Amino acid sequence: MGVYNDVILPKLCDLAMRNERLRPYRERVIGAAEGRVLEIGSGSGLNLPFYGARVREILALEPSPNLLALARSAPQSAMPVRFIEASAEAIPLDDGSVDTVVTTWTLCTIPGAAAALSEMRRVLKPGGKLLFVEHGRSPDRGVRWFQDGLTPVWRRISGGCHLNRPIRSMIEDGGFRIDRVETGYMPGPKPMTFMYEGSARPN
Ligand SMILES: C[S@@+](CC[C@H](N)C(=O)[O-])C[C@H]1O[C@@H](n2cnc3c(N)ncnc32)[C@H](O)[C@@H]1O
Repeated sequence: MGVYNDVILPKLCDLAMRNERLRPYRERVIGAAEGRVLEIGSGSGLNLPFYGARVREILALEPSPNLLALARSAPQSAMPVRFIEASAEAIPLDDGSVDTVVTTWTLCTIPGAAAALSEMRRVLKPGGKLLFVEHGRSPDRGVRWFQDGLTPVWRRISGGCHLNRPIRSMIEDGGFRIDRVETGYMPGPKPMTFMYEGSARPN
């Protein structure tokens, strides 16, 4: 299980997240980032090339050393990037020290997602923004049935990914006010592709 989790899974994650259908989401979400940016679960660094000129500094937080190694060798952004090996449940940054928090497809996987959202809120400046794109719980009963049924097995082979997390309410319960959220299926198997894309601010 060690070799699977430590060596094979990071490579599979990188491969899966290179799906070209994710690109438009990355362009929109990352394009709205500004100032000092904390990216949660930055994985193999696939968002880095999308950061624009309004970004001053990128803090790329990722708990997997192997994914961090891939990210360090990935095409970089023009902005300075600081890689931080840490978990989102305990972010090693001061209160109110970042302008934007970015999360792309991480809330499905983070074991303590509620604690992580509370940490994201803590490190954001009062007027700062949380930018997100996540897959999660479908509004359709039939799809939800599959999401609930598949998640116990899916979690074991995918490094902890849940198909059925209620992303919108998780963010709201984490102390955020949603400014904008767009939802809908991306092409692909419906249990895996119901997306939540938007932005929120600390309450
Ligand atoms: C599906 S990948 C997404 C990677 C990247 N955000 C992207 O868009 O390509 C999920 C990421 O969440 C990270 N992750 C898992 N547990 C985490 C935690 N406790 N704190 C922060 N990130 C975590 C994984 O290591 C992985 O990089």
